[in-house]
Amino acid sequence: MALSNMICIRDLEVAAKSILSKTVLEYFNDGSEEGLAVASNLSAFDKYKIRQRVLRDVSNVKTEKKAFGKTMSFPLAIAPSGMQCMAHENGERATARAATKAGVFMGVSTFATTALEDVKRSGDEFGENVYLLQLYIFKNRKTTENLVKRAEKAGYKGILLTCDTPKLGNRYNMTRNNFKLPPHLNLPNFGKEKVGPLIQHVVGDGSKQEDDSNINDDSITWDEALPWLRSITNMEIWLKGISTAEDVRLAAQSPANVAGIVVSNHGGRQLESAMATLDSLPECVQAAKSGNRPLQVWVDGGIKKGSDIFKALALGADGVMIGRIPLWGLAIAGEQGVSKALEILKAEFQHTMALAGCKTLSDITPSSLARVTEGGFYAKL
Ligand SMILES: Cc1cc2nc3c(=O)[nH]c(=O)nc-3n(C[C@H](O)[C@H](O)[C@H](O)COP(=O)(O)O)c2cc1C
Repeated sequence: MALSNMICIRDLEVAAKSILSKTVLEYFNDGSEEGLAVASNLSAFDKYKIRQRVLRDVSNVKTEKKAFGKTMSFPLAIAPSGMQCMAHENGERATARAATKAGVFMGVSTFATTALEDVKRSGDEFGENVYLLQLYIFKNRKTTENLVKRAEKAGYKGILLTCDTPKLGNRYNMTRNNFKLPPHLNLPNFGKEKVGPLIQHVVGDGSKQEDDSNINDDSITWDEALPWLRSITNMEIWLKGISTAEDVRLAAQSPANVAGIVVSNHGGRQLESAMATLDSLPECVQAAKSGNRPLQVWVDGGIKKGSDIFKALALGADGVMIGRIPLWGLAIAGEQGVSKALEILKAEFQHTMALAGCKTLSDITPSSLARVTEGGFYAKL
């Protein structure tokens, strides 16, 4: 199907399947173990229906949202996903260009196949945008510190500290397919000499590891790691991979002055049978907004349609992120494919708002939704 004939994200997903190799496709799309968390992320959206208000002049629906001192064209950002050059040779550069053109912020993975400075430079050719560095705290703190300093110097606005990955999820596809980063690609956010052992970590092959200093430090804690991170940067610190009210409260109380959280289960790639992120969202919002220091709350996982974005916002999210969709867009047509995906999502979101009778984002509230109750009936939240 030609890109111009694709009308929904499902069209992009199907097209990407026919283009990507089995190994790359499964690396992108599968989750950990039996994929229960991936499936839950998707099905959680069906537990809600939208309550439609009418006759409310929806001739001029406004979707813009402020964050990081800038305006996003609608409350959606690109989630950080690693190794985008496996989807298309222009990888992260193409995503950055499409994101800037669409007015959509971008999270950049530490495990990107393009240097973080080059990702931003590519997007900057088309205007200013907000870039957030996804970060792991490695056993070798110096590696982490270098990444943070480079991002700050390059003009990144924030850190997304991924908290759900003390160890890599148990991903059957990676073992079965003997997943390896293709030899023509590398991970330039690390010095050349460190790439070898890192890739071995990525493939989960501990036996071949020569040096474990650049693997995730699985001993980090709230008390030590966050103040340390705060001590090395002035950028906003956001925690990605939070899913319980208990952890939101710890984030809000942290002396590291955490600015926001991303309710996420890593797209179902980490803890098997983790709660769907949409199911975690209400308790996280409640905790984030009721403390002395309210936190921003974004959510990712399973968002595929404009109505999904609407539901997440109605449950209190300030914004959403998408991980796999840009990869499918890249696989199909590089930058144009990502642009197409963003156009579809924005148009669908705007259309959902109009049909639901919401002129502005603040019109989207819990009363915009009904939820399935015992006995299968839907009731207003
Ligand atoms: C191929 C792939 C690579 C990813 N790499 C990272 C990563 O390096 N760091 C991270 O925090 N999250 C990573 N994620 C998770 C995404 O940031 C995001 O949480 C998730 O994809 C959202 O779910 P969705 O794909 O259903 O939109 C990755 C996701 C995918 C699909």
